[in-house]
Amino acid sequence: MKKILLASLLIFQAQVLFAWGQIGHRIIGDIAQSHLNKKAQVAVNSLLGHETLAMSSTWMDFVRADTSYDYTHPWHYTTIPEGKTYEEAGTVEEGDIIQTINRLINELKSGTLGTEQKVVALRFLVHLVGDIHQPLHVGGGEDKGGNDVRVTWFGDKSNLHKVWDSEIINSQQLSYTEYADAINHPTLSQMRAWQAASVLDWAYESKDLRSQVYTLPEDGRLSHNYTFNNIATVELRLLQAGVRLAGVLNDIFG
Ligand code: ADE
Ligand code: ZN
Ligand code: ZN
Repeated sequence: MKKILLASLLIFQAQVLFAWGQIGHRIIGDIAQSHLNKKAQVAVNSLLGHETLAMSSTWMDFVRADTSYDYTHPWHYTTIPEGKTYEEAGTVEEGDIIQTINRLINELKSGTLGTEQKVVALRFLVHLVGDIHQPLHVGGGEDKGGNDVRVTWFGDKSNLHKVWDSEIINSQQLSYTEYADAINHPTLSQMRAWQAASVLDWAYESKDLRSQVYTLPEDGRLSHNYTFNNIATVELRLLQAGVRLAGVLNDIFG
């Protein structure tokens, strides 16, 4: 009994920690792969071999099981309290998602990294460009990005963060390639506008979605209605993340 309790506690914790679930991250990687220019395709293939961007995207969550990667935990999110700017909030010494994305881009551009360091930096970057588009990865500083907001999802215990990481996406019952194909239809003007925005802009877009994300029924019971109200936003954020990741990689390698 104790073992079962411990096991379920560990599983629960692991789920709390995951960012966009595996499907969400892979959708973003798959979309990005389709928008790479020739040069970036060659460079990415030479680093990752047979590993697609979709498969690279979840590696940063996979290594959370290894305590030697504990220093990377603060890189998955940032905190911008309500009514404050990012600068006013003050940056953390360990690095947050905004600092880390900008650092990785600079390092990959600088030509100072060895091949294995480039592979790791690329996997981190693919993951984090995804995470920053999940609105709750730009937290308000009061509830661990919605992890402390208990809700039920079709009657099962969940939390608001997890609803946005995975519940809404998984409930569509599409594979990541099916989902990517369904939403990967940006217009040229969307592509241009999205790719022109800065990393800080992406974070503020997430922050600005907060009022929508936190519009919850009094009883916290989420199901069809919450999905109906938010799925277009989830899909927009996945598409923007994929298009922007391609833009960043085209800029680095192209
Ligand atoms: N821990 C604290 N804030 C968080 C956030 N916004 N996302 C994920 N984990 C967090
Ligand atoms: Zn993450
Ligand atoms: Zn998350």
